[in-house]
Amino acid sequence: MLQKVVRSTIIDAPIERVWAVLRDFNSHDQWHDTVESSRIEGSERSDQVGCVRSFTLRDGNRIREQLLTLSDTEHKSTYCIVEATLPLQRYVATVTLKPVTDGQRTFWHWESTFSTPPGRERELREMVAQGVYETGFENLRRHLRQGGDLQAPGRAAGAMPAALAVPTRRVAVERYGGPEELRPQDGEAAAPRAGEVRIRQRAIGVNFIDVYLRRGWIPSALPLVPGMEAAGSVLDVGPQVSGLLPGDRVAYLGPVPGAYCDVRCVPAEWVLRLPAAIEDEVAAALLLKGVTADYLLRDLARVQRGTRILVHAAAGGVGLLVCAWARRLGAVVLGTVSSEEKARVAREHGCEHVIVTRDYRFADAVQRACGGADVVIDGLGDAARDENLAALARRGHWISLGQASGPLAPLPADALVAKSLSFSRPVVFDYVATNEQLAERAQRVWSALSDGTLKPPPIERHSLNAAAQAHARLESRATIGALVLLP
Ligand SMILES: NC(=O)c1ccc[n+]([C@@H]2O[C@H](COP(=O)([O-])OP(=O)(O)OC[C@H]3O[C@@H](n4cnc5c(N)ncnc54)[C@H](OP(=O)(O)O)[C@@H]3O)[C@@H](O)[C@H]2O)c1
Repeated sequence: MLQKVVRSTIIDAPIERVWAVLRDFNSHDQWHDTVESSRIEGSERSDQVGCVRSFTLRDGNRIREQLLTLSDTEHKSTYCIVEATLPLQRYVATVTLKPVTDGQRTFWHWESTFSTPPGRERELREMVAQGVYETGFENLRRHLRQGGDLQAPGRAAGAMPAALAVPTRRVAVERYGGPEELRPQDGEAAAPRAGEVRIRQRAIGVNFIDVYLRRGWIPSALPLVPGMEAAGSVLDVGPQVSGLLPGDRVAYLGPVPGAYCDVRCVPAEWVLRLPAAIEDEVAAALLLKGVTADYLLRDLARVQRGTRILVHAAAGGVGLLVCAWARRLGAVVLGTVSSEEKARVAREHGCEHVIVTRDYRFADAVQRACGGADVVIDGLGDAARDENLAALARRGHWISLGQASGPLAPLPADALVAKSLSFSRPVVFDYVATNEQLAERAQRVWSALSDGTLKPPPIERHSLNAAAQAHARLESRATIGALVLLP
């Protein structure tokens, strides 16, 4: 009686990557553990219908198989055993791939029919199902994870996997101080450890937190490489990483600094695959700032139609995103900026009432414009402290998310009581503490960009080597929108 074995699985890789391996009839000795060595007979190509592969298994058995059909449009191939030292007779197998709807994964169906000597049906069915198919699924996964398919010449140049340390250029701070303390130096990016991904970075986001780190306002061990986010491509992945493969275009965000470099290992938990529509520089400019705008407006300010929201540094990296998003949610948006040029850009991004001030005097203007703010989004810190209290409406909420003007002096609870105010001191990393949270918030940012809720902000570019210049510009209040470093 004819035996039938059917197995299927999902592979964490786009269909073209899986197919690029499987359509090569002679690739199996590179990825399938049970195959010792394989060659195509004669001078045929390994994707030529009719070609015969002759291979030896690790247990010493030898098999010759012929390729019967191969369809690049259906991602399907059929083959049969012509001759074997194993008692598999009339063996015909079919491999079929289908894309999973997210486009990043592949459904792989593998089936065969064959006959066996009487009494050996079960043993041989088991051997094909487990020894060939299930093992093959696992082995191909490992092969893709290690970038084996990218090693073929001509494929995905620049995304070659590297199992050893690779040279990296980074910008480090040896002692706390001004922008001049940011100095380029050469180093090495070690191979990724368990749970890690090594990334070739193409754009690095600059955030004000990088300045606090450099100044020592957030204490950290020296030497310090600043930077909390970047975008680029996966070079290779360590053990126990799933869902990310060499060559994937990604961005990451995480609570441990170190992004000012060209190659970096980071925990896979921090990493997201990027949609095709989001370019590297946009991802680096927007990921941290965009998810910050998302948690501020959704989780903390709970902005609704009519909420009066005051956004400081309204033409800055975070400011422009908060203004545009809050306006789309129906808020009354007020903002402070230090120049007419910034005022123009803030208005273009949804800030209705712009207050131009360089010396943190805005409370009267806010009271006049709307009777007080329900929410203040404050990245200024100490210099705006008293004016913030005066600008807030009854039961208003002061969200202190940064300290560009200097660390906020301790705030006694009594300072809040006169108007029943509330005060928050949030940090973005607590709002993206898992990969699911990060992915969900980032997806809302990318969707807001694609549906026009967020206008792409201006991006100021500096080379990685010129990180000191980027910091000097950010601290001089000269920049509009976001800054990125290009390795
Ligand atoms: N806690 C969090 O989760 C979180 C996350 C992201 C960002 N942040 C904070 O949000 C704020 C904005 O960050 P960003 O990266 O987007 O920076 P940014 O707003 O692009 O740049 C900072 C802006 O602050 C204003 N500023 C006022 N006084 C300043 C001073 N003495 N020195 C320098 N700048 C001064 C300037 O705008 P004007 O000249 O128009 O006043 C300047 O352009 C920062 O405080 C940052 O730490 C917090």
